[in-house]
Amino acid sequence: MCGIIAYVGDRDVQPVLLDGLSRLEYRGYDSAGIAVHSGNGIRIQKRAGRIAELAKAVVKSPLHSTSGISHTRWATHGEPTDTNAHPHLDQSGRIALVHNGVVENYQTIKQALTEKGHVFHSATDTEVLAHLVGEHYDKLSSLQGANRLVAAIKAALSEIDGTYGIAVIHQDLPNLVVGARRGSPLVLGIGEKEQFLSSDAAALSPYTQKVIYLKDFDIVTLQPGKFDIQTIGEREVSYEIKELDFKPEAAEKGKFAHYMLKEIFEQPTAIKNAMRGRLDKETGTAHLGGLNLTNEQLRDIRRIIVLGCGTALYSGMVGEQMIETTAHLPVETDFSSEFRYRNTPLENDTLFFVVSQSGETADTLGALREAQRKGHRVLGICNNVGSTIARESDGGVYMHAGPEIGVAATKSFVSQTTIFALLSLKLGRMRYLSAANGHEIIHALEQLPAQVEAILAQSDYIKKIAEKYAASQSMLFFGRQGNYPIALEGALKMKEITYIHAEGYPSSELKHGVIALIDKKTPSVVIAPHDSLYDKNMNSIQEIKARCGPVICLTTNGNKEIDSNADDVIKIPQTLELLQPILNVVPLQLLAYHTAVALGRDIDKPRNLAKSVTVE
Ligand code: M6R
Repeated sequence: MCGIIAYVGDRDVQPVLLDGLSRLEYRGYDSAGIAVHSGNGIRIQKRAGRIAELAKAVVKSPLHSTSGISHTRWATHGEPTDTNAHPHLDQSGRIALVHNGVVENYQTIKQALTEKGHVFHSATDTEVLAHLVGEHYDKLSSLQGANRLVAAIKAALSEIDGTYGIAVIHQDLPNLVVGARRGSPLVLGIGEKEQFLSSDAAALSPYTQKVIYLKDFDIVTLQPGKFDIQTIGEREVSYEIKELDFKPEAAEKGKFAHYMLKEIFEQPTAIKNAMRGRLDKETGTAHLGGLNLTNEQLRDIRRIIVLGCGTALYSGMVGEQMIETTAHLPVETDFSSEFRYRNTPLENDTLFFVVSQSGETADTLGALREAQRKGHRVLGICNNVGSTIARESDGGVYMHAGPEIGVAATKSFVSQTTIFALLSLKLGRMRYLSAANGHEIIHALEQLPAQVEAILAQSDYIKKIAEKYAASQSMLFFGRQGNYPIALEGALKMKEITYIHAEGYPSSELKHGVIALIDKKTPSVVIAPHDSLYDKNMNSIQEIKARCGPVICLTTNGNKEIDSNADDVIKIPQTLELLQPILNVVPLQLLAYHTAVALGRDIDKPRNLAKSVTVE
């Protein structure tokens, strides 16, 4: 949700910032801007629209400098216009600031500053913050240079409510960038004679592998060849320099038309990476050292609550079924955003999992903190190493899926559900699951990557089905038990990237209301693998067909009966009922992808969305 990239060093800053912005564009893409130090003040270019618009503007009027800040926006306050795009200037025009987050009390501050004569040009909360920094800067005339700017930023930030990741420059302080964070991610990239600041480490990987993940209330000054980290308030300064564990190519599209397609095709590897070194074939269990819990502590758990948003929550719902099946432990799932404001009754022996690809989702972070505040241990399932949720969790499991750039989550889902399968194996083996059953699950887990490959090989076939139904106004997705969250995820993918209205339901709910929507123009995708509820799903298909509704059935290989009962059939490999949802999601991702291609949608940057939702 908004991306920041800033630079000081000896390179020409413009290409560095444009390249960084294009790597961060998945975070927000409604407008973008750059501010640089120039010989005679600060120069700014900003444009509504994609980064390409900004790039065109700077080609016409280049911004040569060796230090600057930049931003790609996902609008919260004020429409995406040139004026509302960041950077914003203070009243004097000497300070430029970019911001990711929300200043909740901006109206009160704006009013107070207006009374002092400040004039605002945009509808944003960010411009108010820029003016507030300027107001303090003017008052701090006893200080000099970087100290004065840092003190002004500290004073301004201590007056605001809300969240921020910011980067600031002052026209009289060339080769200096100041950054600060609270609730919105910022990563410092350390080069030889250059420093970078970014919302995401992935944007830094072409330039440096050495990074520091800044913490809330850190304030950092960047100068060529040096950096300094302080804190806002009386907090202790502590940081660790980390080496990035991925190469720049991992965040590039390669031969694929879209990141989403690339990431769908990376799923066999994502599953392997989620399992690597974690399967114990001797005893038929899984090793998950990062949980930071002894076997005794794990045995004492009586209830699990899984929290997440969107796709991450749906993976938790698959996990719920898996853990309840193998370990007979009660598991509940909840939207992070709802849990954090509800007073859910909780017993002492309740363990929490928070699931987040980005590790920065504001609602999930809020839910994590709420559960910890109530004295519970919270474990994270995250992809982004060093992210806030990963750092603040009491332990957890990294996904190791590599960067996921497509706004529609795909490989993170199969990775998360694979991790839940490992958890269910571990927790099951400590309770009701025999060694033989443990071995059976491990054997089935090991088959998954090849089975996903077999599904991916049907991409062209699924494309034809997608094209047949692409003109639909509405689509319904049905599945039962572990496949109900797959129906939800299939519908979410469809609506996110195609803008076709789509709903997911348990097939059993069909006759309780949604059947009213069935007609010959509304296709239903029914997930009906050969499992314990196959006959029930077949009944649902008959009920849809009896009302002239087209049916696309997703079933398992060997099912011949379905050929005469559904309009279109996708057959995929069969695995254990416990693991089948991991395979079933893949054709639905391809169905959504090919439908979006047929409709000419902007697949990696669907309208109104952003990859990482760091505001409430
Ligand atoms: O980074 P997170 O996993 O915490 O993100 C959670 C959701 O915002 C995310 O899964 C969202 O629903 C995706 N756009 C789904 O494709």
